Amino acid sequence: MNAPDTTALPAALSADPTRGEFTVRVARVLRHTAEVSGYRLERCDGQALPAAEAGAHIDLYLPGGLARSYSLCGEPALSAEGYEIAVKREDAGRGGSRAVHEHLREGRLLRIGRPRCLFPLAPQAPHHRLLGGGIGVTPLVAMAHALHARGAAFDLHVFVRSAEHLPLRAALEAAPWRGCVTVHRDDAPATRTDPAALVAQAPAGAHLYYCGPEGFMAALREASRDWPAERVHFEHFGAPPAAATPGTGAGFELILARRQQRLHVPAGKSIAMVLHGAGIPVDTVCEQGICASCITPYLDGTPDHQDSCLTDEERATHVAVCCARALTPTLTLDI
Ligand code: FES
Repeated sequence: MNAPDTTALPAALSADPTRGEFTVRVARVLRHTAEVSGYRLERCDGQALPAAEAGAHIDLYLPGGLARSYSLCGEPALSAEGYEIAVKREDAGRGGSRAVHEHLREGRLLRIGRPRCLFPLAPQAPHHRLLGGGIGVTPLVAMAHALHARGAAFDLHVFVRSAEHLPLRAALEAAPWRGCVTVHRDDAPATRTDPAALVAQAPAGAHLYYCGPEGFMAALREASRDWPAERVHFEHFGAPPAAATPGTGAGFELILARRQQRLHVPAGKSIAMVLHGAGIPVDTVCEQGICASCITPYLDGTPDHQDSCLTDEERATHVAVCCARALTPTLTLDI
């Protein structure tokens, strides 16, 4: 079959390769649950996609100017052939998941970004314990594939309301590592477990990985408080409540060192909004401090970091401009 001609795509679908973007075709849509659908994305030009490591996510550029990040859940070793994502429809959300469910049909074209991984597996560990709450299981499924392929010891615990709410159920039941999976269902008391107990009972030296809704994240953050930071890995798929709403807080002055420009960031506007308003390009996918698309180096001043994607080390030099404020009267960016 010939690859579709993508040279005359509308701007919204036309990928900019200099920004690491691709135009892909929705090759398959799967209904996982009443709320969760899965999508397989393949490149239109017959070329291989960039390989994605376990825990990676991609940015989807959706109709209406929306951009959202979704974790890949397929086998990382096969990612060059196609990317798999699973998206839960959140009608009360900000519109991204609704746009995915309404727009992505088999055969449709879509612009996406190159995979980025903020939630990588540790290269070595005596055991990897993966804990997923609801749709938060998606990156952990990719991790389970990768751990199985490398022969590493792991287990995957999934917490859901009922069997009908189990995302990726077919994949979990068919995987060669299905014996490592335990599903904990709210509607089946015999299966219920406190996720914190699984942290306390983890094998010596284990690494912990978790992703899920905020209550789940908070419980596991507390349960692993005394663990060495290098053995605890997590990813938010929504902004934690501690994160400030972008644009709240007092105003401050923004200095753009390379451009030799000074801009005022008022209360009620984020740095990214001010940059956009001045015609200065900055990628903003999640606008919640999660995806790292807006990370920008800074040179002077003290940012009030509000993101959940940068490490402490990275925060010494970089800032998420979609949500950070400044603790000093000025903040100097290296742009
Ligand atoms: S836009 Fe996602 S972290 Fe800023």
